[in-house]
Amino acid sequence: MGLTVNGAAVSLPEDPRVSLLDLLRERQDLPGTKNGCNQGACGACTVLVDGERMLSCLALAVQFEGREITTIEGLGKPGALHPLQQAFIEHDGFQCGYCTPGQICSAVAMVQELRRGVPSQVTDDLAAEAIALDRDELRERMSGNLCRCGAYNGIVEAILATYAEAAE
Ligand code: FES
Ligand code: FES
Repeated sequence: MGLTVNGAAVSLPEDPRVSLLDLLRERQDLPGTKNGCNQGACGACTVLVDGERMLSCLALAVQFEGREITTIEGLGKPGALHPLQQAFIEHDGFQCGYCTPGQICSAVAMVQELRRGVPSQVTDDLAAEAIALDRDELRERMSGNLCRCGAYNGIVEAILATYAEAAE
């Protein structure tokens, strides 16, 4: 029994109390996913589960048997960065960088939610098959990812620059 992390098979922990975040950071040597609040309030621990964003601090690893987990280490690597990682560099989307892996994982999934027409609090047309990426949608949908350095303007610009084809 196990799950997949960045394409590699990983065994489920024997202790069912181990969070997905602790499995990644402490048992898989994948420290890119950050532990900010450990209580679902900051978004630093966001990873992708079968392409959907999830707070790994609130999830037990044993819930994810057979699922595909992608962390920031699986999105890009030095010399082969994900386009959004490169855009964060070019648009000053970070200062200390602690929130950045969560911001990037969250944004990657957020854009897919737009393309699937998943509405947000600020969506006007709830029946739209796809929703345009504008600043209001972006800020609303990324509001669960906090940045204590206040790099929000750069984060917004980096996401818009990367996914411009989805923008209005
Ligand atoms: Fe998971 Fe803050 S560490 S939401
Ligand atoms: Fe420091 Fe966001 S870059 S918390």
